Amino acid sequence: MNMMNPDINLSNTIPEDDTKRQYDYIEKAREYVQKESEVLGRPMTFCVTTFGCQMNARDSEKLRGILEQIGYVEAPEETADFVIYNTCTVRENANTRVYGRLGQLKPRKKANPHMMIGLCGCMMQEPEVVEKLKKSYRFVDIIFGTHNIFKFAELIVNRFESGHMVIDIWKDTDKIVENLPNDRKYAFKSGVNIMFGCNNFCSYCIVPYVRGRERSRNPQAIIDEIKSLVADGVVEVMLLGQNVNSYGKNLEHPMTFAQLLTEIEKIEGLERIRFMTSHPKDLSDELIEVMGHSKKICKHLHLPVQSGSTRILQKMNRRYTKEHYLELVDKIRKAVPDISLTTDIIVGFPGETEEDFQETLDVVRKVRYDSAFTFIYSKRTGTPAAAMEDQVPEDVVKDRFDRLLKEVQTIASEVCAVHEGTTQTALIESVSEHDDSMVTGRLSNNLLVHLKGSKDLIGKLLEVRLTECKGFYYLGELAE
Ligand code: SAH
Ligand code: SF4
Ligand code: F3S
Repeated sequence: MNMMNPDINLSNTIPEDDTKRQYDYIEKAREYVQKESEVLGRPMTFCVTTFGCQMNARDSEKLRGILEQIGYVEAPEETADFVIYNTCTVRENANTRVYGRLGQLKPRKKANPHMMIGLCGCMMQEPEVVEKLKKSYRFVDIIFGTHNIFKFAELIVNRFESGHMVIDIWKDTDKIVENLPNDRKYAFKSGVNIMFGCNNFCSYCIVPYVRGRERSRNPQAIIDEIKSLVADGVVEVMLLGQNVNSYGKNLEHPMTFAQLLTEIEKIEGLERIRFMTSHPKDLSDELIEVMGHSKKICKHLHLPVQSGSTRILQKMNRRYTKEHYLELVDKIRKAVPDISLTTDIIVGFPGETEEDFQETLDVVRKVRYDSAFTFIYSKRTGTPAAAMEDQVPEDVVKDRFDRLLKEVQTIASEVCAVHEGTTQTALIESVSEHDDSMVTGRLSNNLLVHLKGSKDLIGKLLEVRLTECKGFYYLGELAE
């Protein structure tokens, strides 16, 4: 039965050829891996380490899925025969960490020549990085980028056949390859890409350069994927895109993000829907209305503000003002009164003055975020902001960062406390890290609660009474 809105066309076909080709390579790679494990007398092992955001985390699940089909078995990095770093380059320190880890791998690889090292993700899309790897990190086996992770099996085969470093980086792509294997980290929840790339070119940000132009996935492919996830035990999905609010604009049959959400809401057995990230400039009234009426969309909106100063926002190319942002927050709070709001803030953008910074503090005090990710501005070569004059001195930035963090944390702990004594639904996600007689659940508003329980509760949605607020999380007990 077709449950879709009749005015939304979901009939675009999904290209199959690339998928088929990759399954052939998976078979070929299997033979090589089989041979190697016969020589070793044990299964070949792998470890994928993810840096960066949820997009990368989802990409890593795809890499894992492919590796497992090839016959590799997952193992800790210290013993793995194939180590893969899925890298991030949003801030300079992300790159520094990868070079550090690579340096540590070098002696291990020397002692175990059969070992393979793969590098992929956003950092590999930077030509200077690949040059440096080619020159100073010759022991790396496979290097690929963000646009061709679907080719992973093919690249592994190339490496086995050539015996040399394999490099395959695409500048950009309009391709979306569907239906490849993936291995989820959690049985009961999953990220789902709804779009790739970004067209916004915020002046500080490298993501549009390393993730390419914005491409929306076909809605039918998204819905089919979610249905099969649900059939496989998933109750919560996180829809992923750099700017989900502009979903669907470039589809052959355009549709809005709000329309997509309405369709996803209808999927039976799916209990919770989350999404990130929302760009304030594209957050529509239609979306706010859908959120207000939805039974499944979680009461949480991540709405990065970046700065509270309209002057700085303009230099950042964010295309909204402080006032516009605050109006949006009012509108959302009216439509969804108990919504939790979180944000990203950058401190020390070029030319930021104390007055600009005070505007940021003002927004933080007015919105009263449930939490905020605060970042020190990091200069990314090739972005417009990197060439801007009056970069802010390090000590000034550090001082502002500390003041901001203090404000954000004080407010967040006050905001968190308001739920004390209420009963809310929690999705139990894991055994508690600090006490194995307890489990950890996530509330609709994204806060965590720890309660007595064992691992058979994992994946269940339970009513939990929040007995005590511990600053940024809760202690609770089953309500029944
Ligand atoms: N697409 C998302 C964010 C992706 S990057 C959005 O638009 O909100 C995640 C966060 O990293 C950004 O929100 C920003 O706060 C931060 N960030 C991006 N580039 C940065 C840079 N050059 N220096 C410091 N923080 C940065
Ligand atoms: Fe970067 Fe801006 Fe795109 Fe987000 S919207 S990924 S901050 S350019
Ligand atoms: Fe980093 Fe790439 Fe995500 S640069 S933040 S991993 S899109």
